[in-house]
Amino acid sequence: MSAPRRFGVLGTGFWAETCHGRALADHPDVELVGFWGRDGARARAAAQRVGGAAFADVDELLGAVDAVTIALPPDVQAPLAARAARAGRHLILDKPLALDVAAADDVLAATRETGVASVLYATYLFQPDITGWLARMAALAAEHGPWEGALARWGGTIDAPGSPYGGSAWRREWGGLWDCGPHALSLVLSLLPPVERVAAARGVRDAVNVALEHRGGAGSALSLTLTAPAGAGGSWLSVWGPGGRHELPRFAGTPQEGFARAVDQLRAAAATGSPHPLDAAYARDVVAVLAAAQHHLDLPVQQRTTAVG
Ligand SMILES: NC(=O)c1ccc[n+]([C@@H]2O[C@H](COP(=O)([O-])OP(=O)(O)OC[C@H]3O[C@@H](n4cnc5c(N)ncnc54)[C@H](OP(=O)(O)O)[C@@H]3O)[C@@H](O)[C@H]2O)c1
Repeated sequence: MSAPRRFGVLGTGFWAETCHGRALADHPDVELVGFWGRDGARARAAAQRVGGAAFADVDELLGAVDAVTIALPPDVQAPLAARAARAGRHLILDKPLALDVAAADDVLAATRETGVASVLYATYLFQPDITGWLARMAALAAEHGPWEGALARWGGTIDAPGSPYGGSAWRREWGGLWDCGPHALSLVLSLLPPVERVAAARGVRDAVNVALEHRGGAGSALSLTLTAPAGAGGSWLSVWGPGGRHELPRFAGTPQEGFARAVDQLRAAAATGSPHPLDAAYARDVVAVLAAAQHHLDLPVQQRTTAVG
């Protein structure tokens, strides 16, 4: 296979236009063919501002491109990703891939049926400040022994004035577990082995605290919300083990620069036939962790917690 050159964006929202579309329009090696959205006027507006054409019919866009990037609510993304893969189009997916494991499994099956390449845009993992730090953490673990635990806080502030995510219906319904959880997991799963068991408890509004048991015995905890009060937002992570205790650094790059790297890496995966480590299988496994936490939260309170006497 050759590297995909013609890219289309599924979605016309804030992220579709300002990150996916902008990065594709600025990328020297690819062509932004256009945008598809359920609202034709929004697709036209995005195309006018960023580039390419507006497509009213998703199959028409699929017929005009080699690859699609998807910036839609996860329950909308998954069936469209499977459809695009079955049409032979390579995929850049956004997080989370889906809101249930069956939908994620179908995307994975579709990529395997046709052999298309896929990359999940896990933002942090496309930033050199972060991947450099993760490489140093891996070297320390190799020297001193594996990491034993991690603690991650991801606090979004979608109620802050001017937030582009304040009107996002799926975020309001599904909360920080599903929107911030993939970011926290992208780091935790880069440091610790796969997750085998989870438990979860609720906090105020959408806040959720998740405890994770990893293969081999390491444990981690995630505190997730999209509705942190003013002044209480922000994200941080600590990891510890025989190699000491270390804090995740900030990254200085932009999401568009990271997305351009995801495009480069998708093109390389498609051209070489080597699966990307953050492919649809990875995205499916992240959904499985989130779905397990959601399952625990949905249990009757007496089953999922022990009352304090
Ligand atoms: N990697 C990152 O750091 C990062 C950052 C931001 C967002 N994202 C991801 O990008 C995706 C999009 O996020 P977003 O912030 O743009 O907002 P969003 O609320 O997730 O999506 C808004 C877009 O989805 C469309 N939409 C909603 N329901 C639809 C349906 N049933 N059928 C077709 N289209 C539908 C909207 O169309 P209308 O305009 O017609 O309503 C709009 O174009 C999400 O998966 C999010 O997690 C990732």
